[in-house]
Amino acid sequence: MSTAQLIDGKAISAQIHSETKARTDALCAKGIVPGITFVRVGEDPASRAYVRMKGAKAEELGIRSETVVLDEKTPQAELMTLIDKLNRDPKVHGILVQAPLPKQIREEEIFSAIDYRKDVDGFHPVNVGKLLLGQNPLFKPCTPAGVHELLIRTNVPISGAEVVILGRGNIVGKPMAAILLQKEKHADATVTLLHSRSKNIPTHCRRADILIAAMGQAHFVKADMVKPGAVVIDVGVNRIDDPQAKNGYRLVGDVDFEAVRQVAGAITPNPGGVGPMTIAMLLSNTVRATEAAEKVA
Ligand code: GUN
Repeated sequence: MSTAQLIDGKAISAQIHSETKARTDALCAKGIVPGITFVRVGEDPASRAYVRMKGAKAEELGIRSETVVLDEKTPQAELMTLIDKLNRDPKVHGILVQAPLPKQIREEEIFSAIDYRKDVDGFHPVNVGKLLLGQNPLFKPCTPAGVHELLIRTNVPISGAEVVILGRGNIVGKPMAAILLQKEKHADATVTLLHSRSKNIPTHCRRADILIAAMGQAHFVKADMVKPGAVVIDVGVNRIDDPQAKNGYRLVGDVDFEAVRQVAGAITPNPGGVGPMTIAMLLSNTVRATEAAEKVA
């Protein structure tokens, strides 16, 4: 049996980065430098790594980036004051508060406090609402927008396709469904959203032309849950113990890649699939925020 085509997130993200760089250069030629501020609260190792990677890529593209690190015990009011200051700073076009946040901070209040015109994460209720209503929000959440770009740029037929999404989180599952069910070009899918209380999960998955795994369980999707020829997108990032590894663990996706690639028609590697796309969409959103704020393009 032939193995699945690999959907190369690194190559596709590199394409998007070069488009973003061209837009950044055009802004810089007008004396406008796009700027993003990252806010990290505490020292969660995964958040540290993500923010570092996002900041480094921003700088590489000519986007000014700044990272504010706050103590794990920071009260919500202090974070709100910082957001208010960033909202009013004209050099800051995009604001990203890295989730998860410590338990004394109510995440949804933070995301709502960010000026929706600087909400490059696409988490503000105005942007989420517009996405659901099909009203072309300024920003779509980066990970599902990145998955959408992967599908579009690998010419996966979406209109009328059976899409099954595993996971109903606000960062991936829910906005992913909203993107793919719109009455729009590159959408118009029949979307099924599965979650921890869903029954008959394998049966639903086997109907999928496009199966998107975003529920955060290592190797949950097995070969017998995949229709032969289906497109499989693995959003998961899970730590599993690995005594051979330097730090005692390794990162794996929600898909049992080696087995599923024997059945699927196309599949994202993990790492190297969805991950790089999230950063690409974030920086594209940052340039979009700048173009909109400066009334360019
Ligand atoms: N944590 C995991 N994914 C994301 C994301 O896309 N944005 C933010 N701000 N935090 C996250």
